[in-house]
Formats: sequence, C-alpha cells, structure tokens
Amino acid sequence: MSDKAKDWVFDDPRLKKLKQDYAAYTEEDFTVWRILFERQMPNLPKAASQAYLEGVDAVKFTADRIANFEELNEVLAKTTGWQVEVVPGLIDDDLFFGLMNNKRFPSSTWLRKMEQLDYLEEPDMFHDAFAHMPLLVNQHYVDFLENLSGIALKHIENPWAIQLLSRIYWFTIEFGLIRENGELRVYGAGILSSAGETKFSLSDEPTHFPYNVRHIMSTEYWKDRFQDKYWVIESYEQLFESLPEIEKVLEEMVAEKEARD
Ligand SMILES: [Fe+2]
Repeated sequence: MSDKAKDWVFDDPRLKKLKQDYAAYTEEDFTVWRILFERQMPNLPKAASQAYLEGVDAVKFTADRIANFEELNEVLAKTTGWQVEVVPGLIDDDLFFGLMNNKRFPSSTWLRKMEQLDYLEEPDMFHDAFAHMPLLVNQHYVDFLENLSGIALKHIENPWAIQLLSRIYWFTIEFGLIRENGELRVYGAGILSSAGETKFSLSDEPTHFPYNVRHIMSTEYWKDRFQDKYWVIESYEQLFESLPEIEKVLEEMVAEKEARD
C-alpha cells in the first residue's frame, strides 16, 4: 500500500477519461448558469473571501458563458499547477482523494434543470465550477487539499477515519468561513453555491466557532438543510498548518474507537 505510486489513480479503470463537451450545452443550460450566476454574484463582494473574489477574476467566470474547462485549465496551469478532471458525478472516496492528491480537482460538467434551481441532491457544475474552482488558484488552499487527500489515502481502508476526515473537508472546503479584516466571509463551496446559505451562515442565527480540528472531527454534519455551526479560520495558511494536527487527532480518535469496540 505505502509503496504504491502516487499517480496510480490515472491507471485506474474506474477513471474514464471524460472531457467537457461544450458544444452540447443547450439554451436551457446557459439560462440556468446565467440565473444562478446573476442571483449569487452580486452578494459576493460583501460575503465571499477575498481569495475567492480574486480567483473569480483570475478564472474569468461571467454570466454569459458556462465555465469552459479548457480555458480554466490554462489559468490553473499557470498559477497553482492544478487541473480539472471531468467525472460523471459522485465518485468512490479513493478516486476522489487520489485525484486531489495528484492536483486534479474532480468536477461534473452537467447543469441542474430550471425546476431544480434551488435544491439539488448531487453537486452539478454550478457547485463544482462556480463555487470551488476560483479557490484553486490559491496556493495554501490547494496545498491543503492535496495533503488532506494524502492523509485520507493512508487511511482509506478505515471507514471511521474517512468519516472523520470528511468532517474536516465538510466544515472547511464545503462550509468554511474565514475572518478577513475583522469580518466574517465565506470560502466554503457548499455555501458559495447557495444564495440562501450565504446569507444565513453570516447571520447571527448559527453558531460560529474558531477553527478547531478536534472539535470539527467530533461533530456530525448533514446534507439536507443548512448547518447550524460553522468554523472560522483566520487564514488559509492556518488550514495548511493544521495538517499535522489533523493526522495526530485522527490517529487518536481511531485508537479511541478501537479501544471502545
Ligand atoms: Fe463540493
């Protein structure tokens, strides 16, 4: 296991070498992208992290055009060296972490339908592209993703360990907040792709905790409604620098569970 080459994922038969078929997008797809973009973008200068806003400029997303992965990959190649890897939808955990451990961000290319504008079970590309990809130009953010994925791969045979790491992923990459110049801002993609949760997460209704690895790993999350707790980082460096602690707490919590069972 440990001597397995890091790039095994590219030879895995489950990874279909898919490409975004830009010509196949319909008028409805363009309309959906536009509506979601125009609904959310005006909120973001006051709500989103500066790093996300700088990322949006760098990747040049606009309301008129569905994100084009070929152009996006050119930008990413010149900044952090990451690339987008097209996947059909949700993929197995080992593939997911295996891709990110090789600087590939898995993304779908399909868009929700008009009747699903507000709620959707599986992430579509408005979530995967609009919400995640601007941050892929931020070096501390992608270094965190790459190395968190490396920790996950070491523990991939242990479902409890993966559950604990999923909580970190969930409350940072998907639902994380950051404090910038004394103000709360959003960097979590699950929030950024929802106008409703953007407003809610920054309000006084939910509880805001300072980033704390053990606290997050001890907290369950849900997928069918807004979170009631959010953790606030002070910087993206803080995320990256917490990796050794994530590994240490993970090993402790795995041992605690083994002692209990
Ligand atoms: Fe996501």
